[in-house]
Amino acid sequence: MKLSNFVALTGFLALSEAIPSSRPNFLFVFTDDQDLTMNSVDYMPHVASRIRDQGIDFTNHFVTTALCCPSRVSLWTGRQAHNTNVTDVSPPYGGYPKFVSQGFNEDWFPLWMQNAGYNTYYVGKLFNSHSTSTYNNPFVQGFNGSDFLLDPFTYSYWNSSYQRNHEPPKSYAGHYTTDVTEEKALGFLDDAFEDNERPFFLTVAPIAPHFDQEPNRASGTPPQAPIPAPRHAHLFPDARVPRVPSFNPLNQAGPSWIKDLKHQNQSVVEYEDFFYRQRLRALQGVDEMVDKLLNRLERSGQLNNTYVIYSSDNGFHIGHHRLPPGKCTSYDEDIRVPFFVRGPRVTPGQTDSQVTTHIDFAPTIFEILGLPLRSDFDGTPMRIVRNSSSVPHEHVTVEYWGSAVLEGNYANLVPGNGHRMPNNTYKSARLVSEERNLFYAVWCTGDHELYDLNTDPYQVNNIYTTAKQSFKNRLDALLLVLKSCAGSTCIKPWNELHPDGSVQSLSDALDPGYDDFYARVPKVEYEVCEDGYLISAEGPQWDDVSAGLWNGQALYDLRF
Ligand SMILES: *[C@@H]1O[C@H](CO)[C@@H](O)[C@H](O)[C@H]1NC(C)=O
Ligand SMILES: *[C@@H]1O[C@H](CO)[C@@H](O)[C@H](O)[C@H]1NC(C)=O
Ligand SMILES: *[C@@H]1O[C@H](CO)[C@@H](O)[C@H](O)[C@H]1NC(C)=O
Ligand SMILES: *[C@@H]1O[C@H](CO)[C@@H](O)[C@H](O)[C@H]1NC(C)=O
Ligand SMILES: *[C@@H]1O[C@H](CO)[C@@H](O)[C@H](O)[C@H]1NC(C)=O
Ligand SMILES: *[C@@H]1O[C@H](CO)[C@@H](O)[C@H](O)[C@H]1NC(C)=O
Ligand SMILES: *[C@@H]1O[C@H](CO)[C@@H](O)[C@H](O)[C@H]1NC(C)=O
Repeated sequence: MKLSNFVALTGFLALSEAIPSSRPNFLFVFTDDQDLTMNSVDYMPHVASRIRDQGIDFTNHFVTTALCCPSRVSLWTGRQAHNTNVTDVSPPYGGYPKFVSQGFNEDWFPLWMQNAGYNTYYVGKLFNSHSTSTYNNPFVQGFNGSDFLLDPFTYSYWNSSYQRNHEPPKSYAGHYTTDVTEEKALGFLDDAFEDNERPFFLTVAPIAPHFDQEPNRASGTPPQAPIPAPRHAHLFPDARVPRVPSFNPLNQAGPSWIKDLKHQNQSVVEYEDFFYRQRLRALQGVDEMVDKLLNRLERSGQLNNTYVIYSSDNGFHIGHHRLPPGKCTSYDEDIRVPFFVRGPRVTPGQTDSQVTTHIDFAPTIFEILGLPLRSDFDGTPMRIVRNSSSVPHEHVTVEYWGSAVLEGNYANLVPGNGHRMPNNTYKSARLVSEERNLFYAVWCTGDHELYDLNTDPYQVNNIYTTAKQSFKNRLDALLLVLKSCAGSTCIKPWNELHPDGSVQSLSDALDPGYDDFYARVPKVEYEVCEDGYLISAEGPQWDDVSAGLWNGQALYDLRF
């Protein structure tokens, strides 16, 4: 198995064994819709030099659902969206009310941190549909200090509403949102420094570079490009979306609604470049904020005892695969995000190319604190402490239910559809190891995608129809297990297919001796396209298959 070689990394050796004598603090800067693949971090000198270059850059970090609210709930609970069942941004399938009705407000990350002796603080956007009418029904639990952006003003760069602790919402009309977030974050740092006993966990979640949305815009108007602070409005006049092969390609081969997208004309492409520049400009406020937060930590003498983590809730595309600006797909643009960690005893300048995901966040913090991992964690710690119990794996599963949100002036693609495209329900698996770099997806419409990113890094050549059936059978069986996995099954899915432990990777599974077995495993498919996680639509379930309840065929029948 080559995987174990692949995971050996530089930083692993560079960390000391001792846990800190005083418990460390945490500062987590969590942006909204920030891409990795369009190089946004190259335009953020403070984030790059003061966080990324001072610690570990996790270069293969993925989200598990490319949409704000589901991705955030997965991060804060350590569970795949199919286990939180918070799969959308608004009810009935998602949003803050769904987070509450699923019971997470009584049992989630900030409460676990308080129980572990931490003071917890949060500034900025928490979840969608956390609004001026839902914020106190009930209040968010788990924070010693909080100041949340509230819908419908969350994405209004110049007229946001924040809601502090148990106070009523307050309008910040005429104030630039990221600067408000910065001021509040610095205030919470000062509060945190006052307690000499309890360390702190501060999350700062600015909205940049998310789209701008004004509640008083005519309904049906698509979301607009983000708005930078005036001091940044004229930067980067020549920046444009990198012209990679997937940008507005001449040949379109996408699945479901994506295959019908038209080649974009010059006006659309120019608008997309403008949209890209506005994102980079809006991120400048975040970069300045990071600099100030680190200065405040440094002056207090706390920087060397604080883990600083930087990431985003999902990635972003602009013009890739002819898509208007947005997220919601599982192309690399949307699922890969920056993930940087600096902190006590973390040697600067490291990279770790092991596959890591947002559901690893909570297990990682637990491991740093020496807390036992919860059995409902679907992830595994990322390697930050020297003796990490991290389980190396080559896969991540990315899932989505419902419609895709399209952004910008050209988002009303299909008359009558507004800026949402239905039939965006899919399951996918992304595999990265030393020898493989694959993406496989099954859509509710029956479409399939298979890309070999070793030869096709931009996912423009779908080889599903030409790939060997025996190869596809393995990927499909892996996806069948992953789409309903829970706990350790999500990290070690092959153990479900090979309970004797003989197979731990796709390479192991490709042994021709297993051809017949994999040919007999039922295929991932949907009964119908649904907007939420409705089991009746989800086709074969691994638990049923392995218990002999799918089409009356038991697993031992499949195997022998
Ligand atoms: C923060 O909240 C926790 C849990 O309620 C509490 O034990 C702790 O004393 C609080 N910290 C401060 C500084 O009030
Ligand atoms: C700003 O937000 C407030 C509510 O917080 C609203 O009443 C007002 O109309 C908004 N102003 C503009 C210019 O959108
Ligand atoms: C370019 O395409 C957009 C979107 O389809 C359309 O609205 C616009 O009229 C086109 N512009 C030109 C110059 O053809
Ligand atoms: C952090 O730096 C301060 C001085 O700035 C020093 O007193 C303290 O011992 C350092 N702590 C650690 C954990 O290195
Ligand atoms: C790592 O080492 C520390 C200190 O020796 C110990 O407390 C902790 O339990 C170890 N963690 C793991 C995952 O083995
Ligand atoms: C969604 O997919 C189904 C199944 O392929 C198809 O019948 C339906 O027309 C699609 N709906 C839209 C709006 O594309
Ligand atoms: C997920 O939530 C939806 C909406 O409440 C519900 O209809 C569905 O049955 C739930 N799915 C599962 C698997 O519990």
